[in-house]
Amino acid sequence: MLNFLLMFISFEGIDGCGKSTQIKILSEYLISLGNKVLTIREPGGNDLSEAIRKILLSSKNVIDPITELLLFESARANLIQETIRPALDNGFIVLSDRFYDSTIAYQGYGRGINLDYITQINTIATNGLKPDLTFFLDVDIQTSKKRSNYRISDRIELSDDSFFENVIKGFHIIAVNEPERMIVINAKNDIKKTHNNILSILADKFPNIFLLS
Ligand code: TMP
Repeated sequence: MLNFLLMFISFEGIDGCGKSTQIKILSEYLISLGNKVLTIREPGGNDLSEAIRKILLSSKNVIDPITELLLFESARANLIQETIRPALDNGFIVLSDRFYDSTIAYQGYGRGINLDYITQINTIATNGLKPDLTFFLDVDIQTSKKRSNYRISDRIELSDDSFFENVIKGFHIIAVNEPERMIVINAKNDIKKTHNNILSILADKFPNIFLLS
């Protein structure tokens, strides 16, 4: 019998922390065990949200913080209704490259928008959907820059170091406030070690995920 689990796991961290790589390896592993897995990214993940992503990340656009916040939340609301909820209802494990913690960290701690407003609008956009577990892949700004050396920066990545210091601080504060949900992973380690750390947390919290089909 297939092992149907309702599980929604998000991955957070600054650029170059290795989220996409870890999601890919974890997804392949969970699928090999017989789980149905959907991987998505935020903003993006379906046609409409990918279109909003283009607007948000184009360095040609000048976007004020509130407009930026509302665009991220529109992309999120659409992605949840069109893609995430149906996948969870159909027994998929959903692995998301970013979710609402990014809004708290980037628009809240980074841009300085009132955190209560952000919490309220996150609740509206998500209709109460929360990740069962969130991995915060923690790297410092130097490591992030080194790993992203050869890529052209998008509009948000063009922000200065103090912005990213605040973003990292924001993620740490969320992890302190919600230690059961948000797990801090040292992502300066190599890919395999980070993957193994993620697996051992998952095995501890959700042993059923490893049941063979
Ligand atoms: P990515 O580069 O990890 O795909 O993410 C796109 C950028 O959008 C990244 O710089 C983080 C930023 N972002 C926010 O500022 N707020 C959000 O709510 C989300 C989901 C992403």
